[in-house]
Amino acid sequence: MSEEPKKIYFSYNDIHQTIKDMAGQIKSSGYDPQLMVAIGTGGFIPARILKTFLDKPIFTVGISYYDSENNPKDSPQKIQWIDEVEKKLQGKRILLVDEVDDSRVTLEYCLRELLKHQPAEIAVAVLHNKRKEKRGEIPREVEHYFYGLELEDAWICYPWDADDILEQDRLSRS
Ligand code: G4P
Ligand code: MG
Repeated sequence: MSEEPKKIYFSYNDIHQTIKDMAGQIKSSGYDPQLMVAIGTGGFIPARILKTFLDKPIFTVGISYYDSENNPKDSPQKIQWIDEVEKKLQGKRILLVDEVDDSRVTLEYCLRELLKHQPAEIAVAVLHNKRKEKRGEIPREVEHYFYGLELEDAWICYPWDADDILEQDRLSRS
């Protein structure tokens, strides 16, 4: 008998509220980013909502860690990257945004790539951190690690992946 992995559902309102709380944490930490870098695709909507509270421009990068058969590659790979990265990031305070810190492999890869371009400071903000043993690590140079909620190691269902958004809302309440 195979057991279904546990699923946790969030509504858009849940996500919005979590991001507002996280923006509060970021402000009270004193970290004042000049720009956000969103990791696509999961980081796009969180970064856009965060912009409502932080009002900073968003740059986006695409990283893929899985192949077409959903198996992890040896290492994450860039599928899209910021043009003229050096000019945009050098000497700037950056906030890297993603939806979930799962294995941490993609986050670590992305942080190390961004650190090559000499930002003044770099911090990370993720909506959800899964409590589990991580395969990746946050490099020492990272000033802050912000998360909205810490969750058990379950499968998180985001509203932007929902086919039926009313059903998603219903499941997010139960
Ligand atoms: P991490 O460094 O942020 O921990 O990422 P990791 O490489 O472990 O994650 C690989 C992919 O799996 C990422 O998607 C991540 O968003 C997705 N993922 C991990 N856990 C969950 C979960 O509980 N729910 C959902 N919905 N996704 C999860 P990706 O390859 O970047 O694709 P995309 O979906 O962001 O486009
Ligand atoms: Mg992602």
